Amino acid sequence: MMSLRTDEHEKHTFNVDKVRKDFPIFKECMNGQPLVFLDTAASAQKPNQVIDSIRDIYQTEYANVHRGLYKISEALTAKYEGVREIISDYINTEHTTEIVFTRNATESINLVARSFGTAFLKENDEIILSELEHHANIVPWQMLRDEIGVIIKVAPINDEGEIIMYEFEKLLCNRTKLVAISHMSNVLGSILPVKEITRLSQAVGAKVLIDGCQAITHLPVDVQEIGCDFYVFSGHKLYGPSGVGVLYAREELLEIMPPFMGGGDMISSVTFEESTWAKIPHKFEAGTPAIVQVIGLGVAIEYLKSLGLEDIRKYEKTILDYATQKLLDIEGLRLIGTAEDKASVLSFTLDFAHAHDIATIIDSSGVAVRAGHHCAQPLMNRMNVAATVRASLGLYNTEEDIDRLVSSLHNVNEIFN
Ligand code: ALA
Repeated sequence: MMSLRTDEHEKHTFNVDKVRKDFPIFKECMNGQPLVFLDTAASAQKPNQVIDSIRDIYQTEYANVHRGLYKISEALTAKYEGVREIISDYINTEHTTEIVFTRNATESINLVARSFGTAFLKENDEIILSELEHHANIVPWQMLRDEIGVIIKVAPINDEGEIIMYEFEKLLCNRTKLVAISHMSNVLGSILPVKEITRLSQAVGAKVLIDGCQAITHLPVDVQEIGCDFYVFSGHKLYGPSGVGVLYAREELLEIMPPFMGGGDMISSVTFEESTWAKIPHKFEAGTPAIVQVIGLGVAIEYLKSLGLEDIRKYEKTILDYATQKLLDIEGLRLIGTAEDKASVLSFTLDFAHAHDIATIIDSSGVAVRAGHHCAQPLMNRMNVAATVRASLGLYNTEEDIDRLVSSLHNVNEIFN
């Protein structure tokens, strides 16, 4: 299959005003003000192309997949399976069968913990995480620890929010069986050197799982280049529908991993005595899948490719740089997360106001941000903060959005000073 990731920028010029017209939410107001949406790290807004595709399927194309020997079921099955090819191309897997559809990235990680973890890890095997992980990449491993007695070790980060590689290397040993680590922090925006982490981990015989929830939206992802064993992400942060996630796993692992859930569509045969499993990836997709959401995710990826992936990334970087500069000029503002390699997320505190108060006050100016621990309580402890305000960027944000954020933060300072 031809790669669509190369040289795209030569054919496109990113035009944010035009792009915003694709997102109907921006015609809406919030608290009487035009919406400034700075919470894409939680979930991205959806373009008309995705919204229309969902409506069209339900109106004229809908049937279950993999089951019907009639035209609309076969046509929708082909569309559904076609998305595996779109995703395989997008993250450059070797085989299309290495793409498993789940409900979200959390389910993808739980699938690996329950299936790979219970089948191939044993008491005293070691799993390495990092201090900046999302709860979704902590709790499933703790549940596995409580069940089979694996040991969890945590790689530290520095004050800027970068993994300390020599400390990470010190944790690696022949007991390390899995390294589960973020590609990009949802709180700090730090980008981790996942290729190097994978190389070092596999050198001691460990498997590597990368949580790509944030990276998939902002960075090129090439799983063969990274060399990882597992890569997970959700559709809803990639401008697609909620309710669909992706697990990439190397073919030889999927072949030997036991099913995660049992039911229809994941079997080859069933008797009351025993059942046998369908071929991969269907072995891991029990029950009616998220048909429409999967197809919507495919449409979202095609939409992004039509804009030019390289152009989107360059544009987002200009807005990140602009926002960083403007925020640092605000009295009492402390940026949490200043990694040299970072993307599209700005977490901060203000000296005189609590994060939740800030978010509530700026909401009245039409500015939507997230405040709190961002599902990363251990990271909050590491950075010595109870909570942060997080402004996270998408391809539709503009310098005017940042100016509105900054002006609303000046209001907060006036109220509390
Ligand atoms: N994980 C999502 C976030 O960072 C929900 O906000």
